[in-house]
Amino acid sequence: MSQEVVLRVEELTKIYRSRRQGEIRAVDHVSFAVHRNEVVGLLGPNGAGKTTTIKCICGLIRPTAGRIWIDEIDALRQPHRALEKIAAVLEGNRNVYWRLTVRDNLEFFAGLQGLPLRKVRGYIDELIELFGLQEKVNTQARALSRGMQQKLAVACALVKQTEILLLDEPTLGLDVETSYELRRVLKDLAQRGERTILLSSHDMSVVQDICDRVIIINRGRVVVDDRIENLKRLFQASAYRFEVEGHLTPEQRRELQERFELLKITDTDGRTIIEAEMLDPSRVYEVIDVLRQNGARLESVGRQYPDLEEIFLRIVRGEARK
Ligand SMILES: Nc1ncnc2c1ncn2[C@@H]1O[C@H](COP(=O)(O)OP(=O)(O)OP(=O)(O)O)[C@@H](O)[C@H]1O
Ligand SMILES: [Mg+2]
Repeated sequence: MSQEVVLRVEELTKIYRSRRQGEIRAVDHVSFAVHRNEVVGLLGPNGAGKTTTIKCICGLIRPTAGRIWIDEIDALRQPHRALEKIAAVLEGNRNVYWRLTVRDNLEFFAGLQGLPLRKVRGYIDELIELFGLQEKVNTQARALSRGMQQKLAVACALVKQTEILLLDEPTLGLDVETSYELRRVLKDLAQRGERTILLSSHDMSVVQDICDRVIIINRGRVVVDDRIENLKRLFQASAYRFEVEGHLTPEQRRELQERFELLKITDTDGRTIIEAEMLDPSRVYEVIDVLRQNGARLESVGRQYPDLEEIFLRIVRGEARK
């Protein structure tokens, strides 16, 4: 990944005006930058402003205020030039042509981008294979399943071979297997490092799997913009997990409960798992001493790291309390 910025959003604000609800500040002074070949996840609860942000970037909505730069081009002043560099797949709008077949759709979108068919045919075949659409090449898009339509939509965005790819909820509504397949394709794409991707998702595993960085927005504002591993470190819990062979005696249980901030004790086939919160790591030894009393065999001790979902919930809840 280079340090060169290819997409920059500055103080983006979008206010929807509706007669019923009055003014809705969907996006409120949002700023961020995406570097070349970076894969960035846009996370946020329902109504946070993710789709609005993406629609502003791809020119579907005119922002109320702010600037958008795509590869140094001012996207609001020169939308056509800027949009040549972008392909987008939007939530709920599968941007494929219902009456065209899978292959015709792919050829059509390549053509839109001015790519000569003979040059792009190989890539189209590659995409068809990548997305597992071989058996459906001659099927009209409207006769595909919802998951296949979604895959075709992403394939049509890819075939344009633009440098920047915007994906709004690419795995929304897909079954586990299709979601997994699409994730695999996106991950592969991300690892090849040839595209710059901004994707929104509610699915933490998608973000955790393929993104380098996450931007969390809540109520139209950026609340976090950081690399995933930094976030995990930041939220490094003071929780520890002890795995013990065998079961605890009632006395041991009582003693642990009295002396420590216990989160949970679970008994599973021949094993006991104790989770406890400790601000002072040296207290780990005290727990071990208690366990030793009846010769319980300690199998492992580890620090617990919250997953992205937990981090996300904490951030959003904390923010909501303000
Ligand atoms: N066309 C519109 N007219 C009026 N308000 C709108 C319009 N589109 C979105 N909004 C409002 O703007 C806010 C942000 O919506 P947006 O669709 O960007 O959120 P989102 O983060 O994509 O949510 P979700 O996770 O549900 O997709 C919400 O309060 C929404 O109701
Ligand atoms: Mg949305």
